[in-house]
Amino acid sequence: MIERVAVDLPGREYNVEIGQGLLAKAGSHIAPLLRRPRVAIISDETVAALHLEALRSGLGDAGITAEALILPPGEATKCWAQLTACVEWLLDQQVERGDVVVAFGGGVIGDLVGFAAAMLRRGVRFVQIPTSLLAQVDSSVGGKTGINTRHGKNLVGAFHQPSLVLADTGVLGTLTPRDFLAGYGEVVKYGLLGDAGFFDWLEGQGPALAAGDVSARIEAVRRSVQMKADIVMRDETEQGERALLNLGHTFGHALEAATGYSSRLLHGEGVAIGCALAFELSSRMGLCSQEAPSRVRAHLRTMGMKVDMADIDGDLPDAAGLLALMGQDKKVVSGQLHFVLAREIGAAFTTADVAVEDVMSVLEDALAQR
Ligand code: GLY
Repeated sequence: MIERVAVDLPGREYNVEIGQGLLAKAGSHIAPLLRRPRVAIISDETVAALHLEALRSGLGDAGITAEALILPPGEATKCWAQLTACVEWLLDQQVERGDVVVAFGGGVIGDLVGFAAAMLRRGVRFVQIPTSLLAQVDSSVGGKTGINTRHGKNLVGAFHQPSLVLADTGVLGTLTPRDFLAGYGEVVKYGLLGDAGFFDWLEGQGPALAAGDVSARIEAVRRSVQMKADIVMRDETEQGERALLNLGHTFGHALEAATGYSSRLLHGEGVAIGCALAFELSSRMGLCSQEAPSRVRAHLRTMGMKVDMADIDGDLPDAAGLLALMGQDKKVVSGQLHFVLAREIGAAFTTADVAVEDVMSVLEDALAQR
């Protein structure tokens, strides 16, 4: 069964199709977008080795030919040099304004290729075929594209909405358990920020979903994407509400920076720990019940995820050092830290009204448990 979420942005509408085996049907989904039966695919070595033949065959069934550029895997690929390589390759392939570029991979490929498509000939259409859980529920939807620079992550980019997203839940079966659970951190985030019923459902279905239950995976991706689409439709360029999607990210980014954006801490793991800390801060500020952070941590623990700073191997800076790293996060406006906090599970809000002492005490206590 294929689920569909419509992203109804006026003039830039697109669908997110979610289901098992979508790679095999990619041709019939993409063909209506094409003026000539060819596409340019950009992927990475890991995804290409596992899935490129299935995608080519799915396209071929609809008479679509495909050239492919295969890049090294990993966050370092989201850089100026690879952006140039993508754009020059797309020009080598004589991709025209009316053609379609396919971003086939996780969040790194989606962000990089989406940005290349945004720049090429002042904007060509692109299709996202996300292959990680994180990309399926978050980065492939909503049109944020970009690269990292020496100044930080995602500081250069463009809003460029895809023309179609094909989320084949079958490919999630080739993720390592760690990568799957890191993506699950973003799934939990949706329940925590805006849908207590979804969080209840995840508490019940999470273990089955992680073990490979297909219908539970499809439902988790569908509900996550629906929530993201609803928010993006109301606030595409993050003037307000879209910032709720950054729940857990202020703490999470500081921890990612402290661990050098290395395999010590994956982005989704940082988000999960960050969500637990955001609820802890909310509770200490008297905004939400004391049970809420305990419930968040209990679910993450049940899922076998990283929950606390104690779960991060190696040294971390002290609380002041982490606070300084939070200050470098891009969610600083006019020098003030903006947090996403919660009144309850499923009821997040943004605020700049947070006392530094409260943040420091949360960080100090979390570090003391290591
Ligand atoms: N990942 C956050 C956003 O798309 O706004």
